Amino acid sequence: MAYREMCDLATLKRRKKMKKTRGDTPVLLIHHEEKVYALSDRCPHRKASLYKGGFKDGIVKCPHHGAQIDIKTGEIVQKPKIAFFSVKTQAAKTYAVKIQDGKVFVDL
Ligand code: FES
Repeated sequence: MAYREMCDLATLKRRKKMKKTRGDTPVLLIHHEEKVYALSDRCPHRKASLYKGGFKDGIVKCPHHGAQIDIKTGEIVQKPKIAFFSVKTQAAKTYAVKIQDGKVFVDL
């Protein structure tokens, strides 16, 4: 594990969320309440891009089956639903973040 540079903090603040890929790891970066959070951009259910989903009040919503994920912990706060049935899924992977010299770094 090592910290990798992802983006400028000012750009992330302006856009609110960004998707960056390092190697074969897609990372969703979110600026929320003056902090930066990083989690895998692959939904833990069936790998959809969470970047393409919604974001509100610290929760990302997967665009495919509606799983809702806490960006601070990666915990599933609402399970995915397929044909009205809730499906159990594991938590999303989160990454440690540090800010240095106006840049966002993520421990991958
Ligand atoms: S792929 Fe995200 S909820 Fe199914």
